[in-house]
Amino acid sequence: MSTLDFEITLSERPALAADREAVLADPGWGQHFTDHMVTIRYAAGKGWYDARLEPYGPIPMDPASQVFHYSQELFEGLKAYRQADGTIVTFRPYANAARMNRSARRMAMPEIPEQLFVDALELLVRTDRDWVPTKEGFSLYLRPFMFATTRALGVNQPADEFLFVVIASPSGNYYARGIRPVSVWLSRDYTRAAPGGTGEAKTGGNYAASFAGQAQAVEHGCDQVVWLDAVEHRWVEEVGSMNLMFVYGSGEDGPGRGPRLLTPALTGTLLPGITRDSMLKLAPDLGIPVEEGKISVDEWQAGCASGEITEVFGCGTAAVISPVGQVKGADREWSIGDGEPGEISMRLREELIGIQYGARPDPYGWVH
Ligand code: COI
Repeated sequence: MSTLDFEITLSERPALAADREAVLADPGWGQHFTDHMVTIRYAAGKGWYDARLEPYGPIPMDPASQVFHYSQELFEGLKAYRQADGTIVTFRPYANAARMNRSARRMAMPEIPEQLFVDALELLVRTDRDWVPTKEGFSLYLRPFMFATTRALGVNQPADEFLFVVIASPSGNYYARGIRPVSVWLSRDYTRAAPGGTGEAKTGGNYAASFAGQAQAVEHGCDQVVWLDAVEHRWVEEVGSMNLMFVYGSGEDGPGRGPRLLTPALTGTLLPGITRDSMLKLAPDLGIPVEEGKISVDEWQAGCASGEITEVFGCGTAAVISPVGQVKGADREWSIGDGEPGEISMRLREELIGIQYGARPDPYGWVH
């Protein structure tokens, strides 16, 4: 049952089929958008109202809109996949809805009914279904977001008017050069999130704050930045915009000594990734135990030197899995593996993608 009726205005100028097919053949990442978008308004005292599906296009905004000044903003990211039999599915959309509402509580923004969130996604994907790529590994990336539209410069209270929007972008592989281990820079000059801050909320400001650290990583010849804890600059938290996973042992260690995973625990400064959560459920069912804990830079380096740590990868919706091959910091540098993606990383990736594209059964009920 839908929680609001959507007013539907279809685009009078949808992309020509030939132009759309050209985009879908090589969409890149986050550069092209479908013909429509969803918008829903919110006002304090009134709740959610004015739900629309309309042509994709600019949103008229008052320059005093709070979001421009104080960044009351949230976003989510998930994908729609075309399975082999033609069925189009999304992956764990209610988990994204729940996370957006957790972020909303931290950012003093309104929560959106989970069903309304999912109805908005479904309506957009149904309307723009021809934009869901057929090519293996490609998908339609869905970007729900919400921001403060209240016209006010005062900062004594949060905004009371908001706009929720969903746009969709056909996406190829996040990394243009395919899956190859990335090099990472240990950032000590910048931190992503501090205790009590907004690190666990998916709010644009966290990403704005990350650009300088990412630029520094690139200056040091690295692909991505590794975020350390803000207090001791010692504990490993995230890589780029992804959660981190450490593989101990290998598939060849024999019974009882096989691989296990360690991922930094959600302390409040880490983003609770849905891919991370899916790995925590998937890996044990593949016989790979998982621990949520703590790992320091020293332990990471020593673990690689002793051979105890065999693989490291970042995981997130956009890239799925991104193996880490090289670590650099101001005072150290080391390698993980032989420059090829690790066996366990790739196995976990195959399992997850298999569920998403329907090549494997989904005992978890993740596919929607
Ligand atoms: C993810 O899906 O891994 C992200 O958070 C990436 C997004 C910010 C581009």
